[in-house]
Amino acid sequence: MEMIRLLFALAVTRDWEVHHLDVKSSFLNEELEEEVYVTQPERFRRFHVKGHHPLPPGPPGLPVIGNLHQLDMTSNLSDHLWRLSIHYGPLMSLRLGFVQTVVVSSAEMAKHVLKTNDLVFCSRPLLTSQQNLSYGNKDIAFSPYDENWREMRKTCTLHLFRLMKQVNVFRPVREEEVFDMIDSIKTRFANKHVVNLSELVMILTINIISRVAFGRRSSGYDDEEQRINGLLLQSQAMFACFFYRDHFPFMGWLDILNGSMARLEKNFKDLDGFYQELIDEHVNSNKPNNMQEDMVDILLKLKNESDSTLKLTYDHIKAILMNILLGGTETSATTVVWAMTLLMKNPQSLNKVQQEVRSEIGNKGRVHEDDLYKLKYLKSVIKETYRLHPVVPLLIPHESRDRCVLGFYEIPKKTIVHVNALAIGRDPKCWQRPEVFEPERFMGCSIDYKGNDYELIPFGSGRRGCPGMSLGATTVELTLSNLVYLFDWELPEGMSDIDTLTSPGTIARKKNDLRLVAKVYDHECTFTSS
Ligand code: HEM
Repeated sequence: MEMIRLLFALAVTRDWEVHHLDVKSSFLNEELEEEVYVTQPERFRRFHVKGHHPLPPGPPGLPVIGNLHQLDMTSNLSDHLWRLSIHYGPLMSLRLGFVQTVVVSSAEMAKHVLKTNDLVFCSRPLLTSQQNLSYGNKDIAFSPYDENWREMRKTCTLHLFRLMKQVNVFRPVREEEVFDMIDSIKTRFANKHVVNLSELVMILTINIISRVAFGRRSSGYDDEEQRINGLLLQSQAMFACFFYRDHFPFMGWLDILNGSMARLEKNFKDLDGFYQELIDEHVNSNKPNNMQEDMVDILLKLKNESDSTLKLTYDHIKAILMNILLGGTETSATTVVWAMTLLMKNPQSLNKVQQEVRSEIGNKGRVHEDDLYKLKYLKSVIKETYRLHPVVPLLIPHESRDRCVLGFYEIPKKTIVHVNALAIGRDPKCWQRPEVFEPERFMGCSIDYKGNDYELIPFGSGRRGCPGMSLGATTVELTLSNLVYLFDWELPEGMSDIDTLTSPGTIARKKNDLRLVAKVYDHECTFTSS
């Protein structure tokens, strides 16, 4: 074994090729492969690319259409891919029409893609809906890895996302909106009516983003939330829509015939009209100098700065607004809905989290952001929710910028790579009893969701990791903690269980709205009698 190690090390240092040494892949044990792979990624890659490597295994496909007939794009794709990967392995190949696709379903492979070879896999494919809604890739989320993306991401991280991380800047907005939602549950629904929690939490996140990013207050904009929710649903449907031209470049005419392009154009027009209104409002505003700037203000200021290296146009601003609107609302709302669903299905955990929040907060009446650090079990509940129901289960599709060898399989240039966070969260190699909701597994455990532990990557990782993580995570914690602190929750009469069906699309929304009965918990009574 030592001899093989030595020969292998020599080959790497002298750049010999595999067939010169006559050492076959099958000779190499996993340990050696890992060692060479991790310590010499660059050389190892070059060394292997010269040899012949097969594509990763995958289900056999048909001529021309490949595996397309085996995937129902309108169903829960991440779940389907997870089940296929149990059979074909953590690196699985699919051919979707003319497009080579690879699905990554283990923490180890995710680390190779998102960390070791981040620079190879950090691009995005040019898909019809994403290109159209991002003004021809002028955004951050869907733009391929190029100079424009690097400048946009750098500028937005510096001026927008860093602002979100500063705890106190938008804290009053978040707290006010969460407390408004709580009050509305108390006054409108408590004890008698069924609360549509999915709808309320969605309106909450729309209001937070509307104020933080667009400087709009919901009062005074009748039906504004409904309008934005409608735009979001339309956009989700377009991201989930199958476009022939994405898989068969010569069949784009079918998208025109079946009306998909017309629907996309309409969605684009509606969104564009909304962004234009925001821009007009800000350009013509008489905002006092001492008022907190919102994100549109900051973007307009950057556009007017002549010394800025990034030449921002109105299209760039609109494309970034699209990312903030789509990335910042449904993601947080959906996480809260899944957390509440899982808690309702696991009453012991619900009791435990209520006990924690109520004993830590006492009779203060509200959970504030500076209380959140005390709520260890609540944070574990949220991590467990991210594990079982990551809201962007396939992340945003990545694309390889170059050929690369992963394990002993070749990934050609321009392969679309889906990292299946849902499969990784349910992998028995990483998690004991993965199917069970058990927040306790995170108590006293260092695994976090911030992108360094590849077992848990609800926000992605690496160059394309989520820049809004801080705002998203805080919104989720603040909302959930107040919901469990102030109310006892019950299923509506006649309902014995909650389903966990998921809507198709990039964001894995709960398909059927979560409807519950809220009973106000009397903190005064508990604390005066004890
Ligand atoms: C619970 C809340 C959130 C979750 C779970 C989430 C999740 C994700 C995921 C999985 C990705 C893709 C990472 C990848 O492809 O490797 C992503 C990207 C992104 N997210 Fe979030 N996100 C959340 C909140 C937000 C918020 C609040 C914003 C902005 C206000 C935001 C803006 C973005 C943007 C701009 C990208 C694209 C980054 C790039 O491609 O460079 N997200 N997010």
